[in-house]
Amino acid sequence: MTAPAVIAGLDQHPTSHPRLLAWVRQIAELTTPDSIVWCDGSEDEWTRLTAELVTAGSLVRLDPVKRPNSFWARTDPSDVARVEERTFICSVDEADCGPTNNWMAPSEMKQLMTELYRGCMRGRTMYVIPFCMGPLDAENPMFGVEITDSAYVVASMRIMTRMGTNVLEAMGETADFVPALHSVGAPLEPGQADVPWPCSTTKYISHFPETREIWSFGSGYGGNSLLGKKCYSLRIASVMGRDEGWLAEHMLILKLTNPAGKVHYIAAAFPSACGKTNLAMLEPTIPGWKVETLGDDIAWMRFGDDGRLYAVNPEYGLFGVAPGTDWKTNPNAMRTLAAGNSLFTNVARTDDNDIWWEGMGEPPAHLTDWHGDDWTPDSDQVSSHPNSRFCAPITQCPILAPEYDDPRGVPISAILFGGRRKTTIPLVSQSRDWVHGVFQGATLSSETTAAAVGQVGVVRRDPMAMLPFIGYHAGDYFRHWIAMGKGVDGNADKLPSIFYVNWFRRGDDGRFLWPGFGENSRVLKWVVERLEGEGGAIETPVGFVPRAQDLDLTGLDVPTADIELALEVRPDEWTAEIPQITEWFDKFGDKLPAVLWSELDALKARLNVT
Ligand code: GTP
Ligand code: MN
Ligand code: MN
Repeated sequence: MTAPAVIAGLDQHPTSHPRLLAWVRQIAELTTPDSIVWCDGSEDEWTRLTAELVTAGSLVRLDPVKRPNSFWARTDPSDVARVEERTFICSVDEADCGPTNNWMAPSEMKQLMTELYRGCMRGRTMYVIPFCMGPLDAENPMFGVEITDSAYVVASMRIMTRMGTNVLEAMGETADFVPALHSVGAPLEPGQADVPWPCSTTKYISHFPETREIWSFGSGYGGNSLLGKKCYSLRIASVMGRDEGWLAEHMLILKLTNPAGKVHYIAAAFPSACGKTNLAMLEPTIPGWKVETLGDDIAWMRFGDDGRLYAVNPEYGLFGVAPGTDWKTNPNAMRTLAAGNSLFTNVARTDDNDIWWEGMGEPPAHLTDWHGDDWTPDSDQVSSHPNSRFCAPITQCPILAPEYDDPRGVPISAILFGGRRKTTIPLVSQSRDWVHGVFQGATLSSETTAAAVGQVGVVRRDPMAMLPFIGYHAGDYFRHWIAMGKGVDGNADKLPSIFYVNWFRRGDDGRFLWPGFGENSRVLKWVVERLEGEGGAIETPVGFVPRAQDLDLTGLDVPTADIELALEVRPDEWTAEIPQITEWFDKFGDKLPAVLWSELDALKARLNVT
């Protein structure tokens, strides 16, 4: 039995916000940490915490010249990705959770997790992180406070969010905030040595949509532990958006300027590890076109007074898939990382204290792999986990658009949905109208990736790339999307046009038919041409699709036959898709908006499927 806890710092706090103080005290008394630290977000704090993590063996400092102020982390091999099976939406009514989420009654989950949290921070420090998703000078700043017993989480939150003293000050004594509780779930007995990556075999990532609370237990991995990201900015925020008439989406935001200087802002939703970070930082291969970055993972979209849909990136950092990132595929990510101040998790480390991962040119003769073992090019395993990640400040991105910090956001001209499909889905198609675009989004499909625990490469429906992130019933979510299409005050014509892309279609021998990455600028050009009533297209059963000659392919070294295959709409493939869509829609029963059934009927009619 442990003695009644004496918690250092319990009575010293840099705020007098009553609700916040009461919550912190309640959690401290439940979890009994050794001490409490209120995070100020300073450089000193970062330096102290990273030094402590280095001493503890949780981080390794990388070469100060090549990777200034940057660190290498390895997780426990069991704690490498989001855990969808362990993610719960604890709505009061099960019908508000829906068939695509796991549900448990809030009282039951709270009872269960309270017992897990009891004493769970023993021997550890409890950190209190005040943070704000989106600009702090927004009309209604979106506050959160994360309590965590992981210094790695504090360091990562400092990169990924606006956090610290200025947030706490802006909260004053009355601001509303999302309480987000996190523990690695690994208490230490007196004298017990810590491990480099503490975590628990019991994991819960729980959301209470009505009370806007997040309770996470057992995992240190980013998507499960940096609670401002998926948990707040997608699952909880999607519920806020449903209630208040806006959208919280798994979307990048980019600014595209054509050679004449005309600007369009584009948002794009692709499932995890399907190309958002890469597209957001794209370096166009066509002359005169310019891409600037606003966000690479999450967009909050609200109507402006002018009836257009404005997007804000709630995050402040990039948490990107490492493997495949290279000077050829994503030079702007490489430049962002070269500026330092970054955390690398589950990549490989070189003998001269740099990092390396698959896809980054020729492998060195020797590496320390993500397990901490020796690795050589003869090794039969990859050196970096397929879901290894870099975490870097977005302000270091050399092509960051100046308006990334504008609390009003940027007006979106086009929304792209995209998935990873070897077959069926053409390189790009334009929807016929908003409802057809919502149909494309609602039936979006993709092969699973390493970003979530589970089998890789299985085709599943991933509506709007939000399958793991919708904080309520997906049928209601589709209804909300349809309702957004009414616009405000008859301004429906100002809505973005919706497109569906697939960079991942393959030929018979498995080769990618489209070269992707920077060459995707050619598709963006066509999108803009369509917006401006120019680009050519043929009307197919699945929307407007360019012919090869409608795309600017100047200087592209790819056989036209491959481009044609990438663009092909094959009736046989689409006919095979119909029963899958029907089965998918059937899941939602009465909650599926009738207009989506009508869209499916119209598609069947166009395909001559009965
Ligand atoms: P999350 O951050 O998990 O939400 O994923 P993301 O959508 O940001 O994915 P990211 O841009 O990091 O891409 C992940 C994988 O897709 C990497 O292996 C990339 O190399 C690959 N990829 C990205 N863009 C393209 C492309 O245009 N073509 C091909 N073939 N692969 C791509
Ligand atoms: Mn993501
Ligand atoms: Mn990404």
